Amino acid sequence: MSAEIISGTAMRAEILDELKQEVAAMQEKHGKTPGLVTILVGENPASVSYVTLKVKTALGLGFHEIQDNQPESISEQALLELIEKYNQDDDIHGILVQLPLPDHIDEKKVLNAISPDKDVDGFHPVNLGRMVIGGDEIRYLPCTPAGIQEMITRSGTETAGAEVVVVGRSNIVGKPIAVMMGQKGPGANSTVTMVHTRTKDLDEHCRRADILIVAAGVPGLVKPEWIKPGATVIDVGVNRVGVSEKTGRAILSGDVDFEAASKVAGKITPVPGGVGPMTITMLMKNTVKSAWFHLENKQNDAA
Ligand code: GUN
Repeated sequence: MSAEIISGTAMRAEILDELKQEVAAMQEKHGKTPGLVTILVGENPASVSYVTLKVKTALGLGFHEIQDNQPESISEQALLELIEKYNQDDDIHGILVQLPLPDHIDEKKVLNAISPDKDVDGFHPVNLGRMVIGGDEIRYLPCTPAGIQEMITRSGTETAGAEVVVVGRSNIVGKPIAVMMGQKGPGANSTVTMVHTRTKDLDEHCRRADILIVAAGVPGLVKPEWIKPGATVIDVGVNRVGVSEKTGRAILSGDVDFEAASKVAGKITPVPGGVGPMTITMLMKNTVKSAWFHLENKQNDAA
C-alpha cells in the first residue's frame, strides 16, 4: 500500500487563490486591502528567509505590506514603542514580530504588547484563551496548528470520533492542536491524547492513532511499525539533517521515517512541502480575517 500524499504546496496554492478573491472583494467594497507589518530584528539567516517569504506572499496577494527591519541593537523599549505605533495604525491589520529575538529583549513582553486584535500569529495569551474557549470566541488560531487542521479536513480525513495522538507539547504546536482537535465543531470532535518525552510506551499510544500528529523535533522518531494501517500522519518536524553538496542548502527531514511510513499510512504529509507551506498561508488567512474584522465588525465588537 502506498499512502496518499497530503501536499502543503498544493493546498497553499488553493487557499491563496481563495484569499486573492477575498482581497479583491474587500478592495471593491471598502477601497482597502489587508495591511501587514513584519518586524524583523537583526539578521538571523533563517529569520531573514522566513520573513522574505512572508513579505513575498503578502505582496502576491495585494496586501499593503510594511517590512520594518530593525538593527540587532534596538532596545526593548524602542521595539515596544514601535509595536504601539502599529497598534494605533488603522491601515495595519496584522503585526508580526519574527522570533527569535536577541537575548536582551524579553520575547514574552514583546508578544504581549501586540494588540490581540492584530495578533495574526495567534501567540497572544488572549487569543490562546479564546482558542481554548472555542466556538464564536475564536479570533486568530496559531498558524501551524491551523494549517494542520486545514490539511486534515481538506484531505477528507474524518475527525469526529477519531483517535488523535499528538506527539509533542510545545506552546506553538502540540498544546494548541491538541485543544483544537478535541473541540466541538467541524474538523474536530476527536478523542485526543497528547504524549511527550515522559510518556510511557510512546509507541503503544501512536499505534492507536487514526490521526497521528508528530511535532517532537526528533528526526525519524516515529517508526513505521508505530503507525496504524490506513492512519493519517501529519509530520510537523523540520530537522536539518545535513547539507546538500550540490546546492549547499540544508537537507530537511521530518520526525517520521517518510519512505517506510508511506507504506503503512493511508495519508501522509511530506517534509519539505507538507505542513511548512501551510504556516505562512494561515498567517495570510488570519490577516485577511483581521482586515474584515477591522473594516466591518470593530464598532459592533466595542458596543
Ligand atoms: N519564528 C519561527 N516561526 C515563527 C512564526 O510562526 N511566527 C513568528 N512570529 N516567528 C517565528
